[in-house]
Amino acid sequence: MRVLLTGGSGMLGRALRRLQPDFAPQIALLAPTRAQLDLTDRTAVADWLAANPVDAVIHAAARVGGIQANIADPTGFLTDNLRINDAVISGAHQAGIPRLIFLGSSCMYPRDHRQPLTEEDLLAAPLEPTNEGYALSKITGARLCDYISGQFPDRAYRTLIPCNLFGTEDHFGSIASHLIAAIITKVIDARDAGHDTVEIWGSGQARREFLFADDLARFILTSLPESEKLPPVLNIGQDADHSVNDYYRMIADLAGWQGRFTHDLTRPEGMRMKLMSSNKARAFGWNPPADIGPALQATIAAYEMTKQR
Ligand SMILES: NC(=O)c1ccc[n+]([C@@H]2O[C@H](COP(=O)([O-])OP(=O)(O)OC[C@H]3O[C@@H](n4cnc5c(N)ncnc54)[C@H](OP(=O)(O)O)[C@@H]3O)[C@@H](O)[C@H]2O)c1
Repeated sequence: MRVLLTGGSGMLGRALRRLQPDFAPQIALLAPTRAQLDLTDRTAVADWLAANPVDAVIHAAARVGGIQANIADPTGFLTDNLRINDAVISGAHQAGIPRLIFLGSSCMYPRDHRQPLTEEDLLAAPLEPTNEGYALSKITGARLCDYISGQFPDRAYRTLIPCNLFGTEDHFGSIASHLIAAIITKVIDARDAGHDTVEIWGSGQARREFLFADDLARFILTSLPESEKLPPVLNIGQDADHSVNDYYRMIADLAGWQGRFTHDLTRPEGMRMKLMSSNKARAFGWNPPADIGPALQATIAAYEMTKQR
């Protein structure tokens, strides 16, 4: 099975590429880089698909950023991601590709809504304003998959909605890093420099659900060949959340750093809480390890390795 993987250089894309040979040897991943294929270019995507016939698409590319980046450029986060999703999803449909898995995001869910959030809560209330543009692009991408699959029975285009992700291939130390990688970088750097304080943006009381990217990657590789069995949208989460302060403490304990935390209360914190229910996914074989400690330890080790290079 030949599969186009978009976002192959991203955190999830790298996990998919690393795990595929052992975990799904029947799949051949084709993962053009951004330099080889700019996904905002609809014509380039159509031409690439015409020249490289594939049986399925894993659409893991997106313009992703933290709260500050989203607040600074909501227009760009909306329009770039709308373009990318239209080029990839409509392009796959026009190329006659029967299967597609689109990566949504838990920010598609309403702000301050009942928790845990179920698939039925999509579009039930207003979104969190700090990343509304990005969230809208994910919602329209999911709806596009659903419309195509509803109108054309030989298309199984499905949306997985992961909670926040962390992984060994995160962009440590860069502006593009995700929260867990940013925490690991700050704590390990403080430990190695002998500093006894680390600053947390905001009160640290916001609660977040985090999932190891490898667990999601394995589920995608297993589900893709039978994507028609999945419902239109499916939450894929850890079914447990912790405060940002808790993640700092967990990582400090695992890394052996005994300093203390200070807070910059001028920084925005985003949604107060964002816990999804992944009950529905359990009927499709979703069963991640309940303890994320070993995965956090592996991610800490990955950052320590990058520091040694
Ligand atoms: N990380 C999370 O916490 C999280 C949570 C929920 C959902 N998701 C979703 O899961 C998917 C994977 O996330 P991730 O964390 O792996 O993201 P990531 O590390 O930021 O990677 C994003 C990928 O998209 C590519 N990309 C962006 N714009 C592009 C363009 N115009 N043309 C070609 N490629 C482009 C990037 O290429 P470059 O390397 O060239 O920039 C990169 O490979 C995304 O759809 C994201 O929205 C992520």
